[in-house]
Amino acid sequence: VTRAVRARDLDGVRLTVSAGGTREALDPVRYLSNASSGRMGLAIARAAALRGADVTVVAAAITADVPGSADVQHVTSTADLADAMMALAPSSDVIVMAAAPADFTPADPSAQKLKKSGDAGLSVEFSQTTDVLAALVRARHDDQVIVGFAAETAGSRERLLELGRAKLARKGCDLLVLNDVSGGAVFGAADNAVTIVDSTGVVGEAAGDKNLIAHRILDAVVHTKGTTR
Ligand code: CTP
Ligand code: CA
Repeated sequence: VTRAVRARDLDGVRLTVSAGGTREALDPVRYLSNASSGRMGLAIARAAALRGADVTVVAAAITADVPGSADVQHVTSTADLADAMMALAPSSDVIVMAAAPADFTPADPSAQKLKKSGDAGLSVEFSQTTDVLAALVRARHDDQVIVGFAAETAGSRERLLELGRAKLARKGCDLLVLNDVSGGAVFGAADNAVTIVDSTGVVGEAAGDKNLIAHRILDAVVHTKGTTR
């Protein structure tokens, strides 16, 4: 019912959402990744399409079904994700960085499959990846709304908001969707609980099904779009 009331409030809006966890190659057959399932990003894609948006999903190592109504670009590493997002940015009205990009990548991935050497261990040097969200913010055009996510092991609401405020300021995005992952299972789960903040403070709160949370996030986007920055 509520969905019918809101229907089409993103009519014609071009929304690009990243989803999933990137993979950073150690050698041709091994990679470093994380537990992101991509469900939150895909839920946003689905919800945005229902509300009339033209949706593009940049999917990092996602095997789950991407909604048929959305365009999809598959990527592997954070560097690939950065390239895809930067290419889509000029033609995007809303960008949602729901993906979990690896922060580090092997500095010198091996072209050959790594071999054991006697009973020695393995040390790998990592370098930092591109901060895609920060790059998107630097390239932002007028009226573009950029949304970031932050999963923090905060432990308390006060600490979560403190970490969120700092991250929002550091990234410079319009909205930041915070969730506390101290309890454990969020990754891969159907449910979640989030707090949405902008530079003025808390602008939304949602708990439950990721589809429902997606609509709350889009409500905040619609509200932000209607506000002069
Ligand atoms: N992000 C990104 N590029 C990266 C890392 C993160 O675009 N290389 C985006 C994520 O998609 C998310 C937001 O930045 O929307 C916050 O991610 P998070 O991991 O919380 O922030 P980091 O800057 O990586 O900081 P931390 O050291 O806390 O991991
Ligand atoms: Ca990170």
